[in-house]
Amino acid sequence: MGVQINPSILSADFARLAEDTAKVANADWLHVDVMDNHFVPNLTLGLPVVEAILKAAGTPVDAHLMIEDPDRWAPAYAEAGAGSVTFHVEAAAAPVRLARNIRAAGSRASMALKPATPIEPYEDLLPELDMILIMTVEPGFGGQKFLDIMLPKIRRTRELIGKHDLDVWLQVDGGVSAETIERCAEAGADVFVAGSAVYDGRDPGAAVDKLRALADQAVGKASWACTH
Ligand code: DX5
Ligand code: ZN
Repeated sequence: MGVQINPSILSADFARLAEDTAKVANADWLHVDVMDNHFVPNLTLGLPVVEAILKAAGTPVDAHLMIEDPDRWAPAYAEAGAGSVTFHVEAAAAPVRLARNIRAAGSRASMALKPATPIEPYEDLLPELDMILIMTVEPGFGGQKFLDIMLPKIRRTRELIGKHDLDVWLQVDGGVSAETIERCAEAGADVFVAGSAVYDGRDPGAAVDKLRALADQAVGKASWACTH
């Protein structure tokens, strides 16, 4: 699997979601940020809108749930047809049971870590997961500055995935742009979320292509990719 580029529709026009998602038909997934104004200080959209996006868009949906009590709410996103469902470990009461429930509902199970949450306590959980999301900003808003201090965590996470010889994708989200994507790829990321870097310009589709080319090249040169 090559690198994957997932535009975040948080930076799209919410009144024109169908049009804006069609502009990135060359993307691998549509990244949909669900925020509940409790886990993060912002409110976006919920299951009904995700269901509408699933009907309107031809691209699979990567649902990033920044919500409290994902144990209760996340499986419904899988049942609705989101191909990948990400919950935050800081909010989950029983992450193993939740990951199993998401997989049982037919989706890829993914676990997100806020910047201050270390990966090491979760090494043994990796086989239960299809993807780890390392947040490279504090979750809640698009357009924030990339946190370079997360690069060592990306590197350590990639090492743990390699150590156990797992096929777990490593996603980064927050401040990913043409300026920062190569650093993420070099450190070990292979799935890249980009909101403002895709939608703030005039041609979102071209931005996806450009990010993909940069990430592909950086992964090609990265030492972690040679062994895996
Ligand atoms: C932030 C969200 C991101 C956000 C990224 O909490 O999870 O997906 O849309 O936006 P950019 O790429 O602009 O940082
Ligand atoms: Zn996100």
